[in-house]
Amino acid sequence: MKKAYKILAMNGSHRSEKGFTEIVLQKFITGAKSAGAQCEVLHVSKKKIIACESCGKCLFETPGVCKYKDDMESIILKMEEADLLIFASPVYFDSMSSNLKKMIERLRSTLDAFFEFRDKRTYHLKTNKTKQKAVTIFTAGNPEKESFVSISRIFNRIIDNMGVQFAGEFHFPASHLLISDPKLLASQLEAVTMSGKEIVSKGNIRKELLEKANREYIDDPRITLQQMTQMILKRRNTMGEMKCK
Ligand SMILES: Cc1cc2nc3c(=O)[nH]c(=O)nc-3n(C[C@H](O)[C@H](O)[C@H](O)COP(=O)(O)O)c2cc1C
Repeated sequence: MKKAYKILAMNGSHRSEKGFTEIVLQKFITGAKSAGAQCEVLHVSKKKIIACESCGKCLFETPGVCKYKDDMESIILKMEEADLLIFASPVYFDSMSSNLKKMIERLRSTLDAFFEFRDKRTYHLKTNKTKQKAVTIFTAGNPEKESFVSISRIFNRIIDNMGVQFAGEFHFPASHLLISDPKLLASQLEAVTMSGKEIVSKGNIRKELLEKANREYIDDPRITLQQMTQMILKRRNTMGEMKCK
């Protein structure tokens, strides 16, 4: 019997399944499941993960083994078994959420302690590209695509350092629109679902499909910002009314 294609999605949102990032992630998962993938979504904020304190134990004393016994042990096992890793995060201060960062720092124990210099960069040994692939999904509050430049670069490096093949990224700015105006994003979200299906059935996501998923849906960021300001003011006023009662 053919082995099922395994996907491990790691959602770093502090709001876990209630957040905007989960909406986009679930679209991808729906597509992947329709092609027969076995998917697990892990909400990093709900996991017990002790921060790496750079004690050096996993480097010098017990190579490859961290001194902490927490949820990272099972996360690492699941990561190793997966054909596809999904890193999903809201953009926080132009980077990823602190919970996701904490999880990634603990992956230090999985990397070889020794290095080599190739392609103008320093790599951990034994991190030549494996068959394993990774995609990223990011949502941001700001309306401009530029909000993703920094986090995208960071993840390109992380995925490269892990020796995993990068298979595509999905960026959703002005993330409140995922709830307030889903019709506006319908074709992009449909392309995310198609991407999930395609990577499982074909092993890759076509460039055109990635472009469709990432197509701009904000004509003028200044107008979206005005709408966001109105939304915040309205919500503050409602909160005030609630307190007066
Ligand atoms: C601590 C914090 C920092 C944020 N920093 C940024 C930022 O730098 N750029 C941006 O566009 N949005 C920023 N946002 C907004 C979130 O990226 C956005 O609301 C995201 O879609 C939230 O995803 P979630 O609902 O899955 O948690 C920030 C939100 C928080 C709570």
